[in-house]
This record gives sequence, C-alpha cells and structure tokens, in this order.
Amino acid sequence: MKKSALTARAATVQVLDQVLGQGRLMSDLIAGGALDALSPADRARAQRLASDTLRGLARADRLLSRHLRKPPPLAVYNILRAGTVELAQGGDPHGVVNEAVTIIAGHPRYGSLKGLINAVLRKMAEDAPRAWNDLRVPILPHWLRSPLTEAWGKAAVAAMERAHFAGAGLDLTVKTDPEIWAERLGGIVLPTGSVRLTDPGQISALPGYASGDWWVQDAAAAIPVRVLAPKPGERILDLCAAPGGKTLQLANAGAEVTALDLSARRMERVAENLSRVHLTATCITGDALTHQGGPYDAILLDAPCSATGTIRRHPDLPHAKDGSDFAALIGLQAAMVDHALTLMKPGGRLVFCTCSLLPDEGECQIEEALLRHPGLSTDRAALLRPGIDPAWITEEGGLRLRPDYWPDLGGMDGFYIGCLRA
Ligand SMILES: C[S@@+](CC[C@H](N)C(=O)[O-])C[C@H]1O[C@@H](n2cnc3c(N)ncnc32)[C@H](O)[C@@H]1O
Repeated sequence: MKKSALTARAATVQVLDQVLGQGRLMSDLIAGGALDALSPADRARAQRLASDTLRGLARADRLLSRHLRKPPPLAVYNILRAGTVELAQGGDPHGVVNEAVTIIAGHPRYGSLKGLINAVLRKMAEDAPRAWNDLRVPILPHWLRSPLTEAWGKAAVAAMERAHFAGAGLDLTVKTDPEIWAERLGGIVLPTGSVRLTDPGQISALPGYASGDWWVQDAAAAIPVRVLAPKPGERILDLCAAPGGKTLQLANAGAEVTALDLSARRMERVAENLSRVHLTATCITGDALTHQGGPYDAILLDAPCSATGTIRRHPDLPHAKDGSDFAALIGLQAAMVDHALTLMKPGGRLVFCTCSLLPDEGECQIEEALLRHPGLSTDRAALLRPGIDPAWITEEGGLRLRPDYWPDLGGMDGFYIGCLRA
C-alpha cells in the first residue's frame, strides 16, 4: 500500500514527540530535515502549531485532564494536545478531529485508541474555545523558574512568563532608513532602530528580502553591535559569528570584519547571509579558544549560552532542556573572554553578550572577568545608545535586557551585554 504523504498536523505531532520525549530542540529537528517533506506553507503551519502547542502546553493539559482519567501515552497525548490548541484557536472541529483520528489510526502501537481521540477531541471542540483564556498563563519549569526568581523576583518572572506566552513578532535590522522600511512593510520602528512587523506572512516574499536591504534579527540581539559602535575601516573580530546577524551589522558599518565560528555548517549560513545582503567579511571555521590573529580594534563575543532569553521565539526550550548542560557553558564563556582579551589592541574594546536570563552567564561573567584582569574596566557610556533605558544598566556596568521590557511594544529577547576596555 502507498504510504500517505506527511501532513502538517502529523509532522507537528512528530516534532512534539521528539521535543517532549527525547529533549530535542525544534531548531535542531528542523535543521535535520524534520519538516522537509512538507510544502513551504505546510512547513510554516507545522512549525507554528508545534510552537503554539508548546507555548500553551499547560493550558492544553489542564483542559484535557477534565476528560482523561490519567495521562495517556505520549504519542496519544501529543495528538490531543495539538488538537486542543488548534480548537482553542478556532480551528474547524471536523477537520481537527478527523485528522487526529487518522494520525492515531496509522500508529503502530496505539491505533486502537481512535475512539479515545475522537471522544476527547469532540469534547475539546466545545470546551477549548470558551475555556482557554480563563486558564492561567503557563509557568516555567522549576529548574528555570527557581534561579530566575532568585535573580529577578516573583513579579518579574511572572511578567517574563506573560511575555513568553505572548510570543514574538518579526524584527528586522535594516541597512538604512528604518522609517521608510517600516512604512513600506507595515511595521513600526522600535526605540533602538529595529523594525517590527506583527503579521509578516512569508518572509522571503517581503519587499527588501531579495534585494538584501534587511535581515531578521530580534531587537535585543541587534543591541550588542550598537554598543560596540563599529567605525568604518576598524578591524573587528566576531568570535562566535553564526548564523551571522551581528556579522552583517558590523560589515554594514564599513568595518573590516573577521567572522569565526566552530561549526562549518553554521559558517555556511554566515556566508549565505552575507551574500544575500551584498556585504563582505572574512569567514573562518575555527575555535574561539585557540584562534590567533589581530590585534583587533574591537571584538564581539556572542558566546554560546543557555539561550534562555529566547523562549518567546523558542517555546520548546523549557520543555527540551533541564539545565544540566549549562554549567559547562559558564566555564567556556569565561575561557572565551580570557582568550579574546589576548587578541585585542591596547585600548581596544570587547563586547561580551549572551542571550541568557541567568546572571551566571551575564552579570557574574563580567564581575569575574574584572577580578581576573586588573586594568580591565566596563564602559558604561557605551551602553547608552538611543532607546536604551538607563535603568537597564547593572551594578557592575553591563546591560540587562529582559523579555518583559517594552510590554506595550511586544517585548524583546532576554540578553546581557557588557563592554570591556583593556
Ligand atoms: C549565540 S550563537 C552566535 C549567534 C551569532 N553571533 C549571531 O548573531 O547570529 C553562538 C555560536 O557559538 C558557536 N561556538 C560554540 N563554541 C564555539 C567555539 N569554541 N569557538 C567558536 N564558536 C563557537 C556556535 O556554533 C554558535 O554558532
């Protein structure tokens, strides 16, 4: 019998099974081809439904618990969860229930549970649309909620959880003329100069994509380079460059950029992105801990980290991770700072940043670097770029950005940025 083609809903369930069952990240699954069998429109649909389901998982489980005596096997549960979320969003009950039944019917182990799926989702078709908004905003898992509460307090974490649940629009960094591009694309210019679109549709079809006039980059992620303030002709090293959003900003400022990353596959993305926007940089696949070169006028170190600042865009992260691999990253970040300092001209600047909400990967890194390197100082003035609230500057002289900032504008990713001068 001919195998039926993969549908967006079936692909969503497969993604959920791997995120929730095996701790895989959605970005890795997608890079590994998990959605390649789908059309571009279905790929976008599957990605959206999987993200929405993970974002609203606690609400879906709460509604489902009213009709389940105990949690069903994960494969069954995930079909019910995705169906519940789609129904809560106003999905057509007939289509949602029928396809959920078809998906379980093809399951090698749980095919006999068609009746359960059908009965529960029919109930959800009545319950979910009316009850969804009365449920509480999903909270972070304990392994993350606990250190964040200790660092920022209960009220701040609750505000972050609201920002995570609200999700994120599409932010663009434009080469020039943000006002003109915002008008052309139907977006707004954010206080720091990024352009934000709330309902963008297919990105590659937007004006300015093919001509390379802008690239996708969260507004917070665009701030480290604004703090570094590259000047034309300066020799700048981008130490953990891929996929290259910050490399493009540095090159767009006219700097002579060397972009380095450990991953050859990810370095290819940097080269592709540079080519699309008609900018140049020297691209190197190599290790930030051993790279020799320079000396450089300035270095950007966007170090590998927990990525806990990006949960608005990556709702899979709290479900896929448990925090156990973060300790190794903290040591790596410190070693990268130490090596970067050896590559810098006297009087040069090092901008260290991480898309993390954990002080261990931000405030503490800068405090400890200052202790390890007498003569090093933080440049507070460099942080005060247009749109930056001085209240975001921390005690040790860095910039703390959080998802609950700019609540009326749609939030921003969590980031920590420090500018060190030797
Ligand atoms: C936060 S991401 C960088 C994002 C990038 N700066 C941007 O704006 O698009 C961290 C990067 O560090 C790279 N990386 C991890 N360990 C590294 C190492 N030892 N040397 C160089 N790059 C490394 C990863 O491959 C990853 O691409």
